[in-house]
Amino acid sequence: MTEFEMEDIAAALVAPSKGILAADESTGTIKKRFDSINVESTEESRRDYREMLFTAEGVSDYISGVILYDETLRQKAKDGRPLAEVLSSQGIIPGIKVDMGAKPLAGAEGELVTEGLDGLRERLAEYYELGARFAKWRAVISISDSAPSQYCIEANAHALARYAALCQEANIVPIVEPEVLMDGDHTIDDCYAVTETALKAVFDELYKQRVVLEQMLLKPNMVISGTTCPEQADAEEVAHKTVYCFEQTVPAAVPGIVFLSGGQSEAQATEHLNIMNELGSHPWELSYSFGRALQASALTTWAGKEENVAAAQQAFIHRCKLTSAARDGEYGT
Ligand code: 13P
Repeated sequence: MTEFEMEDIAAALVAPSKGILAADESTGTIKKRFDSINVESTEESRRDYREMLFTAEGVSDYISGVILYDETLRQKAKDGRPLAEVLSSQGIIPGIKVDMGAKPLAGAEGELVTEGLDGLRERLAEYYELGARFAKWRAVISISDSAPSQYCIEANAHALARYAALCQEANIVPIVEPEVLMDGDHTIDDCYAVTETALKAVFDELYKQRVVLEQMLLKPNMVISGTTCPEQADAEEVAHKTVYCFEQTVPAAVPGIVFLSGGQSEAQATEHLNIMNELGSHPWELSYSFGRALQASALTTWAGKEENVAAAQQAFIHRCKLTSAARDGEYGT
């Protein structure tokens, strides 16, 4: 019974024309976003901002699920309903970020490993009670002259698989996110090589730790040039190399791949997703789990002012609509 529930949730998250909104910025990250628009980050301002996104008219046409941060899952909307209920009453599935952030990896200068396994079983049980039906854990892998080490890749893959197995035990669909960062002057081929190695390690650990592939989603980076690489690969190359990389590494049993935007502009991320979906049918759904590429315009339009809420909601829905079209390979047609 629950097996099917998890498969149904995974399928619903990548239903046609729909994808995920990542609104799970940690308190530190949302402060950075609010600093950029000169808004103080308080419990109330964070609630107001997220409530604005979740109540935008038509949001459920494009958004299948929202990843929340612990604080948000416990917050109530202005009308007193839990924010998770504001989502689920529209048919949007609430999800939860469960990792505790990337911390320095001992013995590997400059590299990070994601923490949060201690007590995770208990936290997952509570999150289920609070309405979460899927979860996210993000591992961070950076590229430099000396990184990543195989040690860093394997430590993160092991933690991702431990997290995923615990989620499935709790009837929560795990989103497995090994993010190879765009920062740096590396080429697209460097990104390809690291992404391929990381995904191979992740699926090896998922297999060893008995994670059921039909009951999870993968949230990877796109294969793309480093932000400061002098030679920037064009959109066609990004799309082709990204799909090829997954063909080499991601089993067909995985129902969906939902991209992070990772610092790409809204337009870039959308264009790349569109070309990948235009390339034809793939063994997995190719959809989105964007944070910045869905929120950037809404955030600046809002600027923390009540009188801008309607315009910010329109800006958000506009991005949702375009991203949804790209998810179907119909952006710009
Ligand atoms: P971005 O799309 O802004 O990268 O955020 C997605 C996410 O959840 C990163 O963990």
